[in-house]
Amino acid sequence: MRIESGKQVEHFGAVRLHPVRRVLELDSGVRIPSPIKDSVEPQRIDRDVIAGIQRELAIVLPIKDEDVKVFEGVLSGIPHDCLMIVMSNSRRGEIDNLKKEREILDRFCIATKRNALIVHQKDPRLGEALADCGYSQILDEKGLVRSGKAEGMLIGILLAMALGKEYVGFIDTDNYIPGAVWEYAQHYAVGFSLSDSPYVMTRLLWRYKPKMSGELYFRKWGRVSEITNKYVNHFISAKGRFETDIIKTANAGEHAMSLQLAKKLTYATGYGVETQELMSIFEQFSGLASPVDKAVMEKGVDIIQTETINPHVHEERGEEHLLKDILMPSLSVIYHNPLCEDGTRRLITRHLIELECIPRDGEVPSLLMLPPPETVDAVKFGRLMDRTLSDYAIPKGWPVGVSLPPAARKTREAAKLVFTDLDGTLLHPVSYSYAAALDSVRKLQEAGIPIVFCSAKTMAEQQVYRHELGIADPFIIENGAAIVVPKDYFRFPFSFSRIVDDYFVIELGAPYQEVRSKLRKLCGKQEAKVTCFGDLTTEEVSKVTGLNLLMAALAKQREYSETVIIEGDKKQLQSTLAAIEEVGLSYTFGGRFYEACLGGDKGKAVKILLELFKLNFGDAYTVGIGDSLNDAEMLTAVDSPMIVQTGDKRWNKLNVKNLKRVSGIGPEGWARAASEVLGGSSHKK
Ligand code: GDD
Repeated sequence: MRIESGKQVEHFGAVRLHPVRRVLELDSGVRIPSPIKDSVEPQRIDRDVIAGIQRELAIVLPIKDEDVKVFEGVLSGIPHDCLMIVMSNSRRGEIDNLKKEREILDRFCIATKRNALIVHQKDPRLGEALADCGYSQILDEKGLVRSGKAEGMLIGILLAMALGKEYVGFIDTDNYIPGAVWEYAQHYAVGFSLSDSPYVMTRLLWRYKPKMSGELYFRKWGRVSEITNKYVNHFISAKGRFETDIIKTANAGEHAMSLQLAKKLTYATGYGVETQELMSIFEQFSGLASPVDKAVMEKGVDIIQTETINPHVHEERGEEHLLKDILMPSLSVIYHNPLCEDGTRRLITRHLIELECIPRDGEVPSLLMLPPPETVDAVKFGRLMDRTLSDYAIPKGWPVGVSLPPAARKTREAAKLVFTDLDGTLLHPVSYSYAAALDSVRKLQEAGIPIVFCSAKTMAEQQVYRHELGIADPFIIENGAAIVVPKDYFRFPFSFSRIVDDYFVIELGAPYQEVRSKLRKLCGKQEAKVTCFGDLTTEEVSKVTGLNLLMAALAKQREYSETVIIEGDKKQLQSTLAAIEEVGLSYTFGGRFYEACLGGDKGKAVKILLELFKLNFGDAYTVGIGDSLNDAEMLTAVDSPMIVQTGDKRWNKLNVKNLKRVSGIGPEGWARAASEVLGGSSHKK
């Protein structure tokens, strides 16, 4: 995107008010290396910067009985990398609008390979969790979340926080133009990219809000907004010696915030919510009221305003709604702000009387306020909602609850990370069962400790276990030949080789076909009997491995390495292994079979992944759990290497410093290792 460069920024205490910037180009092309920095006007924001931010952005979509066709259009405009949180307050019962919304979202997510949440704000479980976390101001007398878009937005903010997102944005679901929706989400990301502060808000101004009366007329928007802007500006002007008209977006329904900022604000119920967000920022961070939040005052708060190109076409709800439901509450929150002086208050009262919103001798009514989301115990809320979240997940079965650890991790002082082998380690060497380790897996998840698989298994095989166990962390496949990272896992952009579904794949090994063609050179030249998985049928793989047919088929879906079965005496084995090296391949021994590959090893993959963890979440204490020779490199790369017992109750001999032997075969030993992780120190090597 190319956007007008920033003009004069105005300061209001620690709040930086940016004048409205216009967009010149919605898409400014691919990155072209240029010696001239783009700080000269106009400013260009790269596609990958926008995409990087959108991966950390949750878009909250409030909906109340909207036309489902229009809703469908809105969904198609939300950029692929944003997480959608649909907050519904639609009619239930015989005519179940929530059901329709859910079906549409489900179809959309399956077709586009996306995940989303859909929540009805009247779900009693939500009310109970909020009551338990001490956030009862949002509840009605029945203990349910009150009706209202603002209440829906608040729940959206809490869920985005629980899911570890960095930013939250709001887009109404009555928008007729999917292209406009797409543009809004671009603006949000661009706004965030323009700020160096963790406390940032982007508010949109629509250039045109067309009116459908006979001919299409591109009307500048809008009367209500102009009045609200006028009084917000009056409020600011009255605090200094210079008049300002900097605020043009006091009613911006379409806006976004960093969650760091969102969690500190006080929200108004009803449609005064957007104006109140501004007023709450002024109240807390203009330095005019005490106490002050030192961290925010130091970094400052950026309020970025941008003007959209697409027109805003949405459901019109009539003049009375505009005055009563939008203007009145918006002026009310200015009027009742403790910093608002009498002059502004008098003008607001007079204006509301003129518009017949209040009687001649009437008072400006005050609104119920919702306390800052940070007053909710986020970890408790996450834990209480953990099971319920899977019912909100779209498509069904998406293990959303397990996305909670990154959020919890951020609140921990010393983060820990577990890298684990699968076969013979987390999985029993004979039965492939992880049952003995299941409780420990859950405990690590509750503690917010990521579990990174690092195994010879293929991506397809590992996905089965990740899905069953609800593990959403990155994983290392085919003995370190590739690292697979869920798209929204890391905040900062990084280099990857390709995208597969919802994953970025960093490839360290050569493709399978290359490995196969080198192995073919061995054919018929060895005294030992050499068989590759690629030459076997699924049934044969199942027979030699003991895997069921499904898992055997997935084991055959190799992308980088080949599993080789070598049958012969010791001498024949040695000469075959030497021949594998001669053709340019390396190999590892996994306990039963050999893995041949070209490039990449578990240790190298662990180190690369660790760098990404450090970059995104800070330093971590690392633990490795393995059982056999091919785990040595992984175990060498971690702070605390541990080895579990093999099927015959002994430990393989590995040349790894400080290696700790834990008793228990496979998953039994894994459970013991995990309890050491939970209880032990996090002192780095
Ligand atoms: N979850 C939830 N709960 N959503 C709701 C509720 C509710 O109780 N009530 C309305 N919504 C949804 C609507 O379905 C729509 O998608 C969105 O919230 C906005 O509601 P509208 O009633 O269409 O608002 P508006 O068009 O009059 O006002 C919009 O623009 C104003 C000025 O910019 C809203 O965005 C206002 O918040 C904004 O101030």
